[in-house]
Amino acid sequence: MRILLTGATGFVGSQLLRELLSLGHKLVCLARNDACAKRLSANPVDVIVGDARDDSVLTKAISGCDAAYYLIHSMASDGDFRDNDRAIAENFARIAGEENLQRVIYVSGLANEDEPNLSKHLASRLEVGRILRSGKAPCIEFRAAMIIGNESISFRMVKHLCHRLPIMLCPKWLSTVTQPLAASDLIQYLVQAMTLKPFHSQVVEIGGRDQATYNDILRTYCDQMNLKRIMIPVPFLTPKLSSYWLALVTPETAEVGRRMIDGLRNPTFVRSDSASRLFDIQPKSVSEAIADAIAENEAD
Ligand SMILES: NC(=O)c1ccc[n+]([C@@H]2O[C@H](COP(=O)([O-])OP(=O)(O)OC[C@H]3O[C@@H](n4cnc5c(N)ncnc54)[C@H](OP(=O)(O)O)[C@@H]3O)[C@@H](O)[C@H]2O)c1
Repeated sequence: MRILLTGATGFVGSQLLRELLSLGHKLVCLARNDACAKRLSANPVDVIVGDARDDSVLTKAISGCDAAYYLIHSMASDGDFRDNDRAIAENFARIAGEENLQRVIYVSGLANEDEPNLSKHLASRLEVGRILRSGKAPCIEFRAAMIIGNESISFRMVKHLCHRLPIMLCPKWLSTVTQPLAASDLIQYLVQAMTLKPFHSQVVEIGGRDQATYNDILRTYCDQMNLKRIMIPVPFLTPKLSSYWLALVTPETAEVGRRMIDGLRNPTFVRSDSASRLFDIQPKSVSEAIADAIAENEAD
């Protein structure tokens, strides 16, 4: 199949690229600048240079492809990421329909749509899913919570916090329940979706074998790295204050931290059984996923 891989320079896209090439697919990758294009060109792929906000770039990228992975995410960009992501998704859905794309596979955030207090980040991810699924080209929207992998932005924050802080103040939102997924499991879902039959627009919630709080994730990482840390629960750290504190101890900016932490107050776990009905995957536990990410970091 000839497949368009958007977001190929990102965390998920770069791992998916390797897997799809090993399966013999022909890939077209979208790169926003010449430096990224040069890096991608080290692989046997066609590279289209340009921004997904540009219709002509999207048309050139989609034209002649059978299917596409939609992994574009503007959270780390300047400006209003919601407006950006909405505009790109609308153009993508329209052009995918015009070019008769047979399937679109998108990775969204895991959230309960009926939650009244949904963070801007999660609401935006779900909005992009609704736009893509309403297009003529059928779209599977995978909804996932934190992806545990060495280079995932959320897991990088876990690592930095654990290594840099001997004493951790743990705000209330660290007790929110979530269901993280190992990066290798996500890649398997994405690969299997390419051959899923019948393929029609739908939401598939995916998560690891077990649920955990963000506190549990920090503790498991510290245990596996033999880091002795004192964790003190505090009732007063608001997400906004926490984001400044995150920016101090991690390389991420306060703005990215705020956008991420804002989403951590919403419980994120799998409610439907569609993933186990449609896919032959036994997801890893949180502990196994963290062990894999540590091993990958050490190998790097
Ligand atoms: N990582 C997680 O823990 C996690 C959890 C749940 C769901 N997801 C979902 O998984 C998907 C991929 O996430 P990720 O962690 O791989 O994200 P990422 O590392 O931030 O990558 C985002 C990608 O989007 C590209 N992009 C952004 N704006 C663009 C534009 N205007 N035109 C073209 N490309 C653009 C970026 O290109 P540049 O390299 O040029 O910036 C980058 O390749 C997202 O939909 C995200 O919501 C991720």
